[in-house]
Amino acid sequence: MIKAKSAIEIAKMRRAGKIAAAARQLAGKLAKAGATTQSIDKKVHDFILSKGAVPSFLGYNGYPASICISVNEQVIHGIPSTRRLVSGDLVSIDIGATKDGYIGDCAATFVVGEGDPDSTRLVEITKKCFFEGLKFARFGYRVSDISRAIQRCAEENGYSVVREYVGHGVGSKIHEPPEVPNYIETPRRKADPRLLPGMTLAIEPMINAGAAAIEILGDGWTVVTADGKNSAHYENTVLITRGDPEILTAAEEES
Ligand code: MF3
Ligand code: CO
Repeated sequence: MIKAKSAIEIAKMRRAGKIAAAARQLAGKLAKAGATTQSIDKKVHDFILSKGAVPSFLGYNGYPASICISVNEQVIHGIPSTRRLVSGDLVSIDIGATKDGYIGDCAATFVVGEGDPDSTRLVEITKKCFFEGLKFARFGYRVSDISRAIQRCAEENGYSVVREYVGHGVGSKIHEPPEVPNYIETPRRKADPRLLPGMTLAIEPMINAGAAAIEILGDGWTVVTADGKNSAHYENTVLITRGDPEILTAAEEES
């Protein structure tokens, strides 16, 4: 069952979303050549606590860090480590913040220093895929309308969509129904819910430069592309309304 959030829950989701978005912005500034991914994790962890929130991923299914940092061919769920970023790295950072029991979930991919044009293009198209999907994150459409728009955007640009991991409802739990795939299943095996006001969805294209296939590393977490080519990720928590969708993890004005 997909439950619409109450006005009080939505207010809490907005507060959590703002903290997650600010943490993502901070992480992007920290993703510089020479930084270890652990140092970014630590600073973002401290930032989230300073806002009276907690990192939603820490301990989730045993996840050992506060945020996920996935470099180059790593798709998602990269565990922060002593790895030092170097110029040209493609760094996907995924952050959840829980405030008053509600979660904001968002991600973005950053190019460290001088990126090559291919990396920059993958980052831009992945973000564009999110916004193409967002056009259908509206009362009157179905989940599959979001999925189709994302898939079309990725494939039109010569990229492929990860199948094994999907977007999701989000609220007091990280993963709530419905699933929000970034592709259309044919034949369709799962329900395709209608979008209703008050639903809060994490829409999160994971886009591979090469083939769609993924593997999981021996750490049990890190998802990598099977062909070793780059991957990018972009995610926001979105509220379905009677009108335009509201991005709950939108950044405040840059200062
Ligand atoms: N942000 C991820 C998602 O959207 C959740 C991270 S899973 C964790 O599904 F275990 F790493 F926390
Ligand atoms: Co998510």
